[in-house]
Amino acid sequence: MRARLSKDAASLALGADKVAHALMQAAAKRGIALDLTRTGSRGLVWLEPLLELETHNGWQAFGPLTPADVDGVFDGRDALGDIEDHPWMKRQTRLVFARCGATDPSSPPEGGFAGLVRARELGPAAVLDEVIKSGLRGRGGAGFPAGIKWKGCADASAEQKYIVCNADEGDSGTFADRMLMEGDPFLLLEGMAIAGFATGATKGYVYIRSEYPHAIAAMQRAAALFRDMDIEIRIGAGSYVCGEETALLESLEGKRGQVRAKPPLPVHHGLFGKPTVINNVLTFASVPAIMEKGAAYYAGLGLGRSRGTMPVQLAGDVKHGGLFETAFGLTLGELVNDIGGGTRSGRPVRAVQVGGPLGAYFPPSLFDTPFDYEAFAARDGLLGHGGIVVFNDSVAMAQQARFAMEFCAIESCGKCTPCRIGSVRGQEVVDRILRGENVNANLALLRDLCDTMKAGSLCALGGFVPYPVLSALNHFGEDFGS
Ligand SMILES: Cc1cc2nc3c(=O)[nH]c(=O)nc-3n(C[C@H](O)[C@H](O)[C@H](O)COP(=O)(O)O)c2cc1C
Ligand code: SF4
Repeated sequence: MRARLSKDAASLALGADKVAHALMQAAAKRGIALDLTRTGSRGLVWLEPLLELETHNGWQAFGPLTPADVDGVFDGRDALGDIEDHPWMKRQTRLVFARCGATDPSSPPEGGFAGLVRARELGPAAVLDEVIKSGLRGRGGAGFPAGIKWKGCADASAEQKYIVCNADEGDSGTFADRMLMEGDPFLLLEGMAIAGFATGATKGYVYIRSEYPHAIAAMQRAAALFRDMDIEIRIGAGSYVCGEETALLESLEGKRGQVRAKPPLPVHHGLFGKPTVINNVLTFASVPAIMEKGAAYYAGLGLGRSRGTMPVQLAGDVKHGGLFETAFGLTLGELVNDIGGGTRSGRPVRAVQVGGPLGAYFPPSLFDTPFDYEAFAARDGLLGHGGIVVFNDSVAMAQQARFAMEFCAIESCGKCTPCRIGSVRGQEVVDRILRGENVNANLALLRDLCDTMKAGSLCALGGFVPYPVLSALNHFGEDFGS
């Protein structure tokens, strides 16, 4: 009898190993020879540990399971049906996460690397053309067109070029990179190999945050089996700013993770001074499907200039937390209320932060905003890496604004003054407001400081802190005593 159970870090934290152990014991007691595959997660984290069992009624899912429940699964107790038919799965367009949760991440895909095969048939110039036409934009936060970046590197002449994958995933409420690396590491390697083929880069690096031991192990195992490109797995230096691409390159070179001034751009002067493509995990992992299904298919999904799919991550006080891959264009309200099911606590939603610690807080009155880079920017927000963190009515928004400044002060690389000093002054100003001292004058000072940080910071750490601070101030002014 075949069975699947996730060994994703979130499932393990929820007791998946204990469930696996109890399951094998229960099967043995019943004389059932169980063929258990440990997979990645399907993304329905609220149902983890989620077991899938092949029964005479087809595949049946069970979850969330505890060791005490497992015996009942053999009698079909509390079966959820085939997980592929679950409304949460049915509403998705799973391109990047198509295999995650369904296949064994420790061996190469049974069907081979279809995207890479097609890329080799097309040739480098046509691959670049396809990626440009697909409209794929970087999924790490800035949304820069991937094909244009690749072309810049392809056009640079150098004996050595590099492909670097940014798997630092520092944004709060995000876990898609981790899930993909744990659940389908070969997809990422395939995407990097296609990038190498298109640009003439022969060596790749994946820079993974140190807090992801399971992803690191999965990627190391897969890279050792991968024959189509020499790809090394490196462990991050434990700082948020090491996710910024130039600080990441410094860190990869063995130096302190400090931001480099641009230009020169990494595509011209990147790792060890060589032309380098640096992209997020999800950017590379989107490419095999583009190759396989064609640019026109991919570009046919989405809204405006946001083409294709985005693995949206729902976290915080949300009933159905997890990963939901969908074409751009659903509204924030649909994602939080329909897909996420509202809050887990049952309290009203007061705010959602989209785009990590530097993202804006949106009140429910902005829930008609479509999930699209430009639509968010038009409302002074950002999509970032696609993380949505839901807060209920107990959140204190002035404290959240203070937290943004504090986070910036702790994580600042120290290279430029608006960020290094401004973030410390920012905390002090919010503290004065919280104590009720000269509130109006200090609010004006806070806005002025945000202007300076936005205009004068060298990178988006200092430059984007105004998003959470000003959105808190503009939408939740009552929390600041104004
Ligand atoms: C402070 C800071 C932290 C960042 N952290 C990450 C990160 O953890 N992962 C990531 O992919 N991009 C991160 N970025 C964005 C990268 O600098 C860069 O835009 C990205 O690696 C480019 O890949 P993409 O075009 O595929 O998104 C960060 C940027 C800043 C300013
Ligand atoms: S904004 Fe902050 S993190 Fe970025 S370069 Fe300046 S000091 Fe460093």
